[in-house]
Amino acid sequence: TSVDKGGHKHYMAKEIAEQPTVLTNALGYYIKDGRIELPDPGLDFTQIDRLTMVACGTAFYACLTAKYWFEQIARLPVEIDVASEFRYREPPIAKGTAALFVSQSGETADTLAALRYCEGKADKIVSVVNVPESSIARESDLPLPILAGREIGVASTKAFTCQLTVLAILAVKAAQDRGELDADGVARALDAIKSVPAMMSQALALGEQSNAVSRKLAEARDILFLGRGPMYALAHEGALKLKEISYIHAEAYASGELKHGPIALVDEHVPVIVMAPRDALFDKTISNMQEVMARGGRVLLITDAQGAKEAGPGVWDTILMPEIDPFVAPILYAIPAQLLAYHTAVAKGTDVDQPRNLAKSVTVE
Ligand code: G6P
Repeated sequence: TSVDKGGHKHYMAKEIAEQPTVLTNALGYYIKDGRIELPDPGLDFTQIDRLTMVACGTAFYACLTAKYWFEQIARLPVEIDVASEFRYREPPIAKGTAALFVSQSGETADTLAALRYCEGKADKIVSVVNVPESSIARESDLPLPILAGREIGVASTKAFTCQLTVLAILAVKAAQDRGELDADGVARALDAIKSVPAMMSQALALGEQSNAVSRKLAEARDILFLGRGPMYALAHEGALKLKEISYIHAEAYASGELKHGPIALVDEHVPVIVMAPRDALFDKTISNMQEVMARGGRVLLITDAQGAKEAGPGVWDTILMPEIDPFVAPILYAIPAQLLAYHTAVAKGTDVDQPRNLAKSVTVE
């Protein structure tokens, strides 16, 4: 391959480290002079009543995160599904629907089939893709590039955070078009998005915290990830990354759903990773965390310094993050999710860039 590892041990490590740079490229492409600019023919959200988002794997968790954004800041109803279910579900597509497909490769067979299902039914077909000449990009009315550069590690990292960045900008555009955010609100949201690359550099500089705790995680057989709101989506992405490359069984749960089953699994052998930026749901997440601790569970808390203080004593370990606007916390908190998976896999000695049984791009059903 023509891309080298740039001094890193694995492509995945290189691609994790590249994120502040590639995100900056994506921001420069979509935000010009403080205004959102989409490539032609653009997208006018006053003409759209609902959004249907479809993808596979990590790209699906980008959709799950974005659903919270579109619904909360743009008040736009969003339906999401994994492509393999969507295409055979034969869902009715109402008038006024934009269908949005997220794919790093732009060639995933199920996602492409889902897109073709929507042709002639959806008002607009939009895609968020990394490979501009891919089938999914070519067959869309509006392909939106994520500008992540070539991604080689099978487990997606920089493509995920670039997908999130483009989707966050699109959610702000939807809020602006639909009159849900005024000029000040739009400026504040864009400032928050623009703050992410520098915050990511800080989080990457703190990466040693993930390395240290990963040596302990490597001994676990099962790991739970908890989060609320968009951090529930990130919990899924953290669990997926860990499964893919360290082969440790990991599961994500919505913090509030824990007591409806998975809390039965909690004992001192099951690390519970709690993703808790200081957002509107922080207190509720922390009280779920305390339920885990009361049952002898070992909690790894990911939050900022103030959050750690408010959470109180008794956690097993903490990963401290820079303070960030809650709107964009999901993009930043992808970093510890990736680093934990990476370092745990390295500690276990697995093939990080080429995990067993997995392919970078799945072009068969
Ligand atoms: C495979 C890869 C994942 C990726 C998924 C979707 O499973 O291993 O990393 O998230 O396909 O791929 P796409 O190219 O459509 O984003």
